[in-house]
Amino acid sequence: MDNRPIGFFDSGLGGLTCISPLMRALPKERIIYFGDTARTPYGSKAPSTIRAFSSEIADFLVERNVKMIVIACNTVSSTCLEELRLRYPGLPVLGVIRPAAERVARDCGGGNHVGIIGTKVTIRSQAYETLIRELDPQTPVRSISCPALVPLIEEGIIEHEIMDLSIRYYLDHFLSYYKIDTLVLGCTHYPLIRANIERLYPSLSIIDPSEEMAGSIRRELAAADMLAEEPCTDNTFYASDLSENFVNMINRIFEISEFKVAFKSFDLEVKR
Ligand code: DGL
Repeated sequence: MDNRPIGFFDSGLGGLTCISPLMRALPKERIIYFGDTARTPYGSKAPSTIRAFSSEIADFLVERNVKMIVIACNTVSSTCLEELRLRYPGLPVLGVIRPAAERVARDCGGGNHVGIIGTKVTIRSQAYETLIRELDPQTPVRSISCPALVPLIEEGIIEHEIMDLSIRYYLDHFLSYYKIDTLVLGCTHYPLIRANIERLYPSLSIIDPSEEMAGSIRRELAAADMLAEEPCTDNTFYASDLSENFVNMINRIFEISEFKVAFKSFDLEVKR
């Protein structure tokens, strides 16, 4: 048993989407979340910048005595998962890409055409393709980056024709040209526009890595006998810029009224 909190982080509010499935699966776990809303988006930044920002946030979570770090961000997971694991020996650090790749390998076969959407950094890294090919060499995988989507989501522009047009700008040709039937939401912001994607392309099967994370966290904690046993009362959500959108999104995603929101700014010099 271990009642310490689990630390989650993302470039902004996208990683919040990993938390509701976890709250449903493991309601006793306490959560500390950090969204780097002052420096979002990460997805078009240099890997050296992403590495520097991520270590800074992970250090902040470690100082708060977390029992595990969950990188609730595909961009960070594809850039520096291994580095963060080396930085904190003995502390479990989980990324978001492997659980989704395992789901593709489990559910898809040679007859499926899988598409991955994500940020420029995630897509350039080919982290999904490499892992899926390793686990399931039969399934063809294609990918496309959709860099305009995260800024719109961070602005709360979701149920709006600008969002639908942006999705169609990236996906109309991609889906039809490669005959994609299964789409992996390779950015934790995208579950927030899942309803738009489903409405625009109703026959598409969607894989949401944030839903796969809960199972992976549960397995890891159970194997190490680290599941919490006392009911959780206080989740804390930190942001580097406490925007109205961040608070609204917490309300919208969790429909909970009791949580603490706190602010932490960083003043970082990035060494390239
Ligand atoms: N939510 C993030 C991801 O999963 C990052 C998006 C961004 O900051 O560009 O990749």
